[in-house]
Amino acid sequence: MKLKDKVAIITGASKGIGKAIAIAFAREGAHLSLNFLQQPEDEVKKLTDELQSFGSRVITVRGDISKEETVKHLVEQTLNTFGKIDILVNNAGILTQSLIQDMTVETWDRMMEIDLRSVFLTTRYVVPHMIEQKSGRIINIATQLGQKGGVELSHYAAAKAGVIGFTKSIALELGKYGITANCIAPGPIETDLVADIDPEWKKNKKKELAIPRFGKVEEVAPTAVLLAADPDGNIYTGQTLGPNSGDVMI
Ligand SMILES: NC(=O)c1ccc[n+]([C@@H]2O[C@H](COP(=O)([O-])OP(=O)(O)OC[C@H]3O[C@@H](n4cnc5c(N)ncnc54)[C@H](O)[C@@H]3O)[C@@H](O)[C@H]2O)c1
Repeated sequence: MKLKDKVAIITGASKGIGKAIAIAFAREGAHLSLNFLQQPEDEVKKLTDELQSFGSRVITVRGDISKEETVKHLVEQTLNTFGKIDILVNNAGILTQSLIQDMTVETWDRMMEIDLRSVFLTTRYVVPHMIEQKSGRIINIATQLGQKGGVELSHYAAAKAGVIGFTKSIALELGKYGITANCIAPGPIETDLVADIDPEWKKNKKKELAIPRFGKVEEVAPTAVLLAADPDGNIYTGQTLGPNSGDVMI
């Protein structure tokens, strides 16, 4: 068990990549503090039952992670329950599409709030505890579009490029305290986030990829385990790892 008795906060853990990371962490022995935006009670119970079946202790904290009060509550609840935070996974995110000439200020601002501001907020409230314990792993879910850009996605690409720059900066600040910070920048992954995208666009996108298919969430989660585990992830910091079907090669 690579994460035995480690305590991890995962934002936006109700489905998709966040849920897959929660399951992968539970399998490796971690205890979990999961943030959900809004999820029917029976689905929350089904997921927590599954995670507890691996022996994990699990708490769930509802709320919009772009709001400071949600983040404060999430961190307080985690510390009250587990007494420490070893791993922070900033996963929550939205994707909307608009050409720049049509984009409303509200669309831009909402993207920045959820996909970038939330990453600052959770990090701001978790890091003092990690500094005190002289260890911690911060894993931010970016996207390959933060590296290469995308049509109708200037706000999404900007927010995620911001996450990558933010991560490199905190990696520089926090390494001396035994804290690492890295990004995972997945390529297109089959989740609800991309469910509504035009099928023709998806067909063409697959043709562009070196591995001509979208990834599965189970093919992203192991990278999070790698970055969280000791010794596997010990000397990765400020990096952007790319489970991306070859969409970006650096
Ligand atoms: N699916 C892809 O192709 C892909 C590719 C690259 C990066 N990503 C990134 O991966 C992350 C997870 O996306 P996914 O594909 O699993 O999508 P998803 O839609 O399945 O999951 C997104 C999660 O974020 C949560 N969320 C959204 N707004 C929130 C808020 N304000 N507060 C709290 N939670 C909120 C949702 O409830 C959900 O649990 C996102 O950051 C996304 O940008 C996804």
